[in-house]
Amino acid sequence: MTDPSLARLRALLLSSLVLPAAALTPACDDKDEEDDTGTGLTDGGADDTGTSDPGCVGEEMILDEAGAPTGYVVCADGAINRVEARAWDPTILAPRCEGTEIDRACEVDADCTAKPHGACIAYNYKGGAADACGCVYSCEKDADCGAGELCIGQGVKPGIVEWSECVPASCEVSADCPSGECGLSAWDDGCGYLVELSCRSDADECRDDGDCPEIACGLGYGEDFFSCQEMSCTPGRPLKVDGLARTAPVGAVQGWAAALAPAVPASRKARRALAAAWGEVGALEHASVGSFARFSLELMGLGAPPELLREAQQAAADEVEHAKLAFGLASAYAGQPVGPGPMSLAGVAPEGRAEAVLAALIEDACVNEALAAAEAEAAAEGCADPVVAGVLRRIAADEARHAALGWRCLAWLLEARPELVPAAEAAFAAQGRRLAARTPGSGHDLAALGLLSPAARARTHEAAWQEVVAPCQAALLSPAGRQAA
Ligand SMILES: [Fe+2]
Ligand SMILES: [Fe+2]
Repeated sequence: MTDPSLARLRALLLSSLVLPAAALTPACDDKDEEDDTGTGLTDGGADDTGTSDPGCVGEEMILDEAGAPTGYVVCADGAINRVEARAWDPTILAPRCEGTEIDRACEVDADCTAKPHGACIAYNYKGGAADACGCVYSCEKDADCGAGELCIGQGVKPGIVEWSECVPASCEVSADCPSGECGLSAWDDGCGYLVELSCRSDADECRDDGDCPEIACGLGYGEDFFSCQEMSCTPGRPLKVDGLARTAPVGAVQGWAAALAPAVPASRKARRALAAAWGEVGALEHASVGSFARFSLELMGLGAPPELLREAQQAAADEVEHAKLAFGLASAYAGQPVGPGPMSLAGVAPEGRAEAVLAALIEDACVNEALAAAEAEAAAEGCADPVVAGVLRRIAADEARHAALGWRCLAWLLEARPELVPAAEAAFAAQGRRLAARTPGSGHDLAALGLLSPAARARTHEAAWQEVVAPCQAALLSPAGRQAA
């Protein structure tokens, strides 16, 4: 049974192909025939990566740079657990605010008094010039942190923090947990590291990154069990550089937050999860502006007609609004302004090869923006907060138009260069394999607050692939569809 919102999305994308109804009907109404997309995607549910839990075998204490015990052990399978508390050096070595930055939430360390060990640092990411200042807080011991938080220092796992930092924790040490393991979750979802501590349990679907084919094993947004995480921070059209999504750093930057007043949950953990999730969405929407700017240049390089260029420019403007909406929600949940800092432009250049433009067009627009539209619509349907649901519906409608633009561009490109059809078929097949290879977790989510669980996202993506992308692909790439186009 086709979801009505997916049926609408499919109709919109098919209409963008400007194919006569006679050419479209068989491909679109024939969903029960064999999958001819080469994707291997089926109606089956998410792959269950359930593991029998042998606990921590062969544990070894992790030592810091000075050779002192960190209080964390690593098991033979790579899982890391906290077994004892220790004090950390609270020094924050990051460059301080110089007073010349454009956005300054603070000027000097003495302005940062919300918690102990504050410093007013200049945001200076990825080699870009600092143009914002904000307070960050280090910690020396757990008592420096708020309720439900613990102090974690450098050296436990590479890259998780630049200084000792308070992180959410539902256990203090392994002895607190029925499983005997207070596990460390630290994974980068494509926009930054999320660090948290929680008891390992039989509900866990993985123990270490090695169990997961994609990014990492960790706790998902608002979840209390370990499961395979993916690069969830990629709604819509990413700005890819060398295959990775490029985003600006997110921090206490003013001027980007739309004035929104969602219902703010009382739970600190839920607030943090929502602020982090929407901050990451904002960073990706912000990056989409650059992605469309680059795409406009690529269209010009291919000799595209003016309608496509105008729509690409309009889509970039939509992404500015999406970023403001997402940062508006992040700011409301965080209780302070959240926005993007300077973005590194290293390696960001338009692609001159038609084959490369085609592959990116298929992945970023025809597939990702269609999936993003379906995902935003599904999240809106389950969201009880009318403010958040309104944001999600606006994003869903715009992403659907962006996906339609992508399909129009693809139709034009294949008409202009029919020799690219085999490359297009290969690119769609690769996208199908990418989606089919995902092994999402299941269980808890913050659906009522507008965040789909990884499992719900995967189900939505799979349905959108089957009911939207695959029929459009068939309509465009089948001999009859191509001839009609
Ligand atoms: Fe967007
Ligand atoms: Fe978009």
